[in-house]
Amino acid sequence: MQLSVIGCGYLGAVHAAAMASLGHQVVGIDVDEAKIAMLSAGQPPFHEPGFEEILKAGLASGNLTFSTDYTAVESADVHFVGVGTPQRRDGGGADLTYVDAAIDGLVPHAKAGSLIAGKSTVPVGTAARLADIVAPHGIRLAWNPEFLREGFAVKDTVDPDRLVYGVSRETGDEDVATLDAVYSSILERETPRLVTDYATAELVKVAANSFLATKISFINAMAEIAEVTGADVTQLADAIGHDVRIGRKFLNAGAGFGGGCLPKDIRAFVARAEELGKGESVGFLKEVDEINLRRRQHVVDIVVNSFDGQPFGHRVAVLGLAFKPDSDDIRDSPALDVAVRLKGLGAEVVSYDPQAMETARRVHPQLDYAESLDAALAGAEAVVIVTEWKQFRALDPIETAEKVARPVVFDGRNILDPAAWRDAGWTYTGMGR
Ligand code: UGA
Repeated sequence: MQLSVIGCGYLGAVHAAAMASLGHQVVGIDVDEAKIAMLSAGQPPFHEPGFEEILKAGLASGNLTFSTDYTAVESADVHFVGVGTPQRRDGGGADLTYVDAAIDGLVPHAKAGSLIAGKSTVPVGTAARLADIVAPHGIRLAWNPEFLREGFAVKDTVDPDRLVYGVSRETGDEDVATLDAVYSSILERETPRLVTDYATAELVKVAANSFLATKISFINAMAEIAEVTGADVTQLADAIGHDVRIGRKFLNAGAGFGGGCLPKDIRAFVARAEELGKGESVGFLKEVDEINLRRRQHVVDIVVNSFDGQPFGHRVAVLGLAFKPDSDDIRDSPALDVAVRLKGLGAEVVSYDPQAMETARRVHPQLDYAESLDAALAGAEAVVIVTEWKQFRALDPIETAEKVARPVVFDGRNILDPAAWRDAGWTYTGMGR
């Protein structure tokens, strides 16, 4: 099929290359000329395992092209919209400027009978509003939320655990048939496919992210209680996680969640529910947000306390900047936040991340970035782990002790073996353990 993908960020660029890998003819559109130039040259603008391979393969096969010009969408049967919906500057709601601009860009060029399939995370009610705008032009609209995780974006796109189609009441059968044709090779594997109305599809996405955020904040709340009682939250998570109704996934206590999705999605959901007069229904998400933000400050506090409240001039190695491993994304990153706050308190912070140093440097040029993990550790009076990269997990406590000035470690992601580190002479502090 002929497809267009509007917006070439994490979501759109991966979706475009993944759809080309499934055999479709795809054009990716973005207003950012530098990004389009990079993608056209086979250079990923962000770190995502497996993306470069499918990008290059798509370009080489001729199935994948990129453009800044909307006229390139004219022959497409389906237009995916994967632009960002960041948090508004003036509150918690979602900023729909880019979604509206994508629709404005598409309407004059999309052929009659084509389908716009929204993938961006939007406040409930958006799809119905957009459908009214495009319908007079003979263009159909569906909402097809995306559940990909950064770090697993390619796998999650070509092999998702479910597909959700929010379709129109009028043209629903045709919308389903069109999307089934796009995803035929995925559906052959009996991937669950749920057909809903617009509002349900929009809500599925924010409900899923709200549930995940709530699960993380729940275990972090237990970590707070463990910290004042001497209990171990990782053992607690293992024990409750054996109950299949609860499950062990997303029960890792630590510095909390960040990224371009979970934090802004729960805030946007609260804002939308308040507009609908149902703020109290999701009021608990404000608590989820607060618990989450407290964890970052907790990491800062325990490091500062280790210097008797006087971190000024003390060298602190902050390991991790990305909001999660296998990503160079620093949006709302707890790790970067910890580094910036410690630096603001006068500590001599030296940061290291295997992938996110360039993205972090652009936003926070005032931080010191080490050339290597060893350079970050050299002479450190405290080591703070805030992103669970496998390189940090694999650190040897005996060898690492020889590199630092003071063997004090704060395991902000609970990835080290406390006994092994203590045996090697370290003062070990985990999160809620
Ligand atoms: C999240 C959802 O997991 C995806 O399903 C969704 O499609 C995506 O948002 C989106 O809306 O686009 P992502 O932001 O890539 O994906 O990251 P997650 O893997 O969900 O991790 C989010 C944060 O939670 C990270 O900072 C991670 O370190 C933290 N986390 C995760 C914990 O603190 N504890 C855990 O147990 C799990």
